[in-house]
Amino acid sequence: MLDDLFSVERFVGDAGIALSRIGRFLGDTSVRGLALTDPALVMAAAGKLTRGGRPDDAAMHADRLAAILDLYARTGIPVYSPGYMGRQFSGPLPVTAAVDLASAILTQPASFYEAGPLPSVAERIMGEELNRFLGMPADRFTMVTTSGGSLANLTALLAARGRRYPEVWTTGLAGLDRRPAIAVGEDSHYSITRAAGLLGMGEAQVVRLPLDAARRIDPVRAAAELDAAAARGLDLFALVATAGTTPVGAIDPMEALADLAAERGLWLHVDAAHGGGMIVSDRLRARLAGIERADSIAWDAHKTMFVPAACTMLFYRDRDHAHAAFRQEASYVFEKTPDRYTAFDAAEKNFECTKRPMIMSLWVPWALYGPAPFVEKIEGLCDMAVQAHDLLRAQRDFVPLHRPDSNILCFRYVPEPPMDEAASGALQTEIRNRVRSRGRFFISKVDLDGQAALRVVFMNHVVTAQHVGLLLDEIRTVAAMVLEERA
Ligand SMILES: Cc1ncc(COP(=O)(O)O)c(C=O)c1O
Repeated sequence: MLDDLFSVERFVGDAGIALSRIGRFLGDTSVRGLALTDPALVMAAAGKLTRGGRPDDAAMHADRLAAILDLYARTGIPVYSPGYMGRQFSGPLPVTAAVDLASAILTQPASFYEAGPLPSVAERIMGEELNRFLGMPADRFTMVTTSGGSLANLTALLAARGRRYPEVWTTGLAGLDRRPAIAVGEDSHYSITRAAGLLGMGEAQVVRLPLDAARRIDPVRAAAELDAAAARGLDLFALVATAGTTPVGAIDPMEALADLAAERGLWLHVDAAHGGGMIVSDRLRARLAGIERADSIAWDAHKTMFVPAACTMLFYRDRDHAHAAFRQEASYVFEKTPDRYTAFDAAEKNFECTKRPMIMSLWVPWALYGPAPFVEKIEGLCDMAVQAHDLLRAQRDFVPLHRPDSNILCFRYVPEPPMDEAASGALQTEIRNRVRSRGRFFISKVDLDGQAALRVVFMNHVVTAQHVGLLLDEIRTVAAMVLEERA
């Protein structure tokens, strides 16, 4: 049996089925949203496909594999459709599927050079390629991949803690006579406060920095907040800026925040999980000015670099600091004196032991095409957000809530006669839910200062102003239905 399951013929046949089914999904660019399916129905369909598998029935395997892939595609968000404007992941560049297929068969976990020579080298090369745009000191910086931006944020804050309090790795926080604290913008991602919990500092030691009208950290009020925190007895060791906040895609003023961090001896971490991709564009790079002054940068390639999740890069300004995050001895894997092979090992710098060779899905398209498709895509998406903003501004019944810094735009539908805040918030939520359940468009919702707003994230380059116009018509239709039902 195993000989058959491992045969090349079997593999080629199965890959053929996958190509035809997934190719159909990729090629369907009709305007569609999420057909959100009742979990009970998905359970029933998947349950039926789970039972009765037999190793020796090739015809049944082909049918079942096709049915599983169809169910997989049918129940998910159609990320290649122009109706998809809802979340921060994109349909990846299709060539990356070929890379992932190879990665599954070749199996080269990437924390150790010995297990993944090419991924280990590709990680070094991509670090250097992308640092040409980031501008960290070429002879000092290093980059390590991690399984997601949340883990990169945690790892960076561990390194920051390790630099300020090296003894804590051994003594724990109980060994300190100070209260370690970090400062973050009000709109920072939840993984940052979660990291504070995991680091044992406690969320109460997270200082929230106020935002300006564009929802970027206000550096003047931030300075006052940092002083007040120090006066309360908090020992601040890190400041976290965000390049592309999750709610609205805002980019914090990194030059000013780097000044604040330098004056106070704080580690500056930039969470560029969302906005990092803008750095490759000559036109957009200036929006990230100051990022090169960060001690660490988290950058999700699976967001605005359009590769399969997870593929996150964590850059450190000083490679010595990368070793401050984790300290341990394990003689079965870690060598005290690196040789020319183990010098490429990433395991001491990343949390994972077995790690997906994630860099391959970024390095291969970069090696094939260079930066051009990444530049074209991110510029197109950011332009689209501005066009959508201008379109909304010209409507009587919509109000955009900010001019986009990146590819995210939040807005509200404003009916006639206008409603009070609570009723308007409830209406936005109802609109979002109905739009989703009608299945033509997929958009998201976010609470800003406690009030619900509609949110679009432009991740699909096929979306045009015409599609945005159709979305606004859909929202009007849905809002009229809701208001009529309420009347
Ligand atoms: C600004 C920001 N940081 C971090 C994350 C977490 O990244 P990941 O989903 O890769 O863990 C996100 C995810 O949306 C994000 O928007």
